[in-house]
Amino acid sequence: MATSRLHAESAVGGDGTGDQLILRRLRTGEDARLQAHVADLSPASRRSRFLGGMNALSPAEARRLIGDGMGPVFALAAEIDHPAGDLLVGEAVCAIGADGVTAEFALSVADAWQGRGIGRAILAGIVLGSAARGVECLYGEVLRDNHRMLQLAARAGFACRTHSGDPRLVLIERTVPAAVRLHRRVREDHDGFALAA
Ligand SMILES: CC(C)(COP(=O)(O)OP(=O)(O)OC[C@H]1O[C@@H](n2cnc3c(N)ncnc32)[C@H](O)[C@@H]1OP(=O)(O)O)[C@@H](O)C(=O)NCCC(=O)NCCS
Repeated sequence: MATSRLHAESAVGGDGTGDQLILRRLRTGEDARLQAHVADLSPASRRSRFLGGMNALSPAEARRLIGDGMGPVFALAAEIDHPAGDLLVGEAVCAIGADGVTAEFALSVADAWQGRGIGRAILAGIVLGSAARGVECLYGEVLRDNHRMLQLAARAGFACRTHSGDPRLVLIERTVPAAVRLHRRVREDHDGFALAA
């Protein structure tokens, strides 16, 4: 997916000036940044993100999550545009299944940046990025006690149901509407797309 810019003044900053949130594809070679982001998450956030007791991402795992830009996996980076260098404040990984039309996703926002609308923006990016790849159904596995993610998903149109294989989990899923139309529009626009936050 091409670079996307979310002008999130209303969501980020809170002092009226706002920071610019940039949503773009996490690229090959950025595995160390992803590892650092995961290492900096609080244990509770890491547990929620990886559904268990994972402490650190190995370089190989980070590379696998980022993908190569051409295969069935794509990852998003949410960055704050900062004079001292872009700050990675969130990530998402989406894996398209063998059927080509269903995809599983998971995301995280750095603890200090949670509650400012970044998760909502990333989720919107996941939906658009998936639609651009022809995905028709998106789903995720969420810990039952992760009320924040369940609330975010419900507001983004996801339905929740009990996970058949693991009672700790809730399955969230939604269809990706107008996938074909979006597919065309995003592919035609080489500079990406703009979303209003
Ligand atoms: C879940 C997570 C991604 C949400 O990101 P975020 O940036 O904090 O969320 P946002 O600020 O965009 O909030 C979006 C919605 O989440 C809900 N939410 C946000 N903060 C909340 C809180 N403290 N309590 C309950 N719900 C909350 C609200 O529904 C909010 O919508 P609203 O602004 O219209 O009220 C983030 O908290 C996170 O990274 N958690 C750890 C990892 C994780 O749980 N990943 C999900 C695995 S799939």
